[in-house]
Amino acid sequence: MLGCGSYLPAQILTNADLARKVDTSDEWIVQRTGIRERHVAAPGETTSDMATLAARAALAHARVDAQSIDLIVLATSTPDNTFPASAVTVQAALGITHGAAFDVQAVCSGFVYALATADSLLKSGSFSRALVIGAETFSRILDWTDRGTCVLFGDGAGAVVLDRQEQADQGEERGILTVRLRSDGRHKSKLYVDGGPSSTGTVGHLRMEGKEVFRYAVAMITDVVEDAFEATGYTAADVDWFIPHQANKRIIDGSAHKLGIPPGKIVVTVDRHGNTSAASIPLALNDAVADRRIKRGDLLLLEAMGGGFTWGAALVRW
Ligand code: UT7
Repeated sequence: MLGCGSYLPAQILTNADLARKVDTSDEWIVQRTGIRERHVAAPGETTSDMATLAARAALAHARVDAQSIDLIVLATSTPDNTFPASAVTVQAALGITHGAAFDVQAVCSGFVYALATADSLLKSGSFSRALVIGAETFSRILDWTDRGTCVLFGDGAGAVVLDRQEQADQGEERGILTVRLRSDGRHKSKLYVDGGPSSTGTVGHLRMEGKEVFRYAVAMITDVVEDAFEATGYTAADVDWFIPHQANKRIIDGSAHKLGIPPGKIVVTVDRHGNTSAASIPLALNDAVADRRIKRGDLLLLEAMGGGFTWGAALVRW
């Protein structure tokens, strides 16, 4: 993983702003979720706009040229259009005309799914350098009259650059050590969008049984993380930084507690970003890399759980 970058739209929506729109309060939102504010895309600002800016930041941080990228995997559930994939819009914006670009849709687990996809394609030898991006404009699919959901989500984008490199014969493994993916479609009606091209012909709005999602989250997250530990031989004690999907501070703390990861090793951005779905992990990663908490050689544990249900975990040596 050569570098990372992110982008947040300029407009900030605070809990106090929301309390003027729906029957809620800063106290309720902070207590139940840990969220204090979130960013919202400007009118006309699209998922691919934000993804392109995050990608440019990641390329600059990695000190590589856009022309060296031959694979773009963009995780999003809020693409600019039903098709083409928003990834090809990013590809064109970066002036890349070779290689492949496509979207991956696994809702909040999208970034972990995209990481697994790019990692496999690099390891197969088909591609040599990838941009893996998570970008979302959930503000466009929220029902702004539903206080149970509209206070939870935000917009933004994050990206990483992955390079195909041989592991050194000696010393510690580098890069993506393992990615474990899961899904269980029996839970699909607990978190979904009530529209789509082949059902209603509309975009639809996000619907969620929050309590039900919450009920499963910690167990699913810790189970797939244990799976990642088993696959690599690492344990919670080896983890330098835990970078969870940022849905709810209570889910993050509950998962860390169950895994035995101390609070000082958790990267938390949910207070400032809200839940940005597929963008939340690379946004949090970039935060902790930018302020130098994360150092080269650190072992990072990433995890996410969301609509589908889908969930997954990755261990990465930064
Ligand atoms: O990315 C993965 C996807 N999403 C998640 O991970 C979200 C998972 N779920 C959650 O984070 C939590 O379930 C929520 C934050 C959504 C809700 O927290 P909760 O502690 O499960 O609250 P609740 O749904 O049981 O609601 C408690 C009360 C209800 O009132 P009554 O029925 O007890 O009178 C709600 O109507 O809080 C009420 N309520 C609100 N009150 C003020 C629900 N939303 C709000 C609100 N402001 N925004």
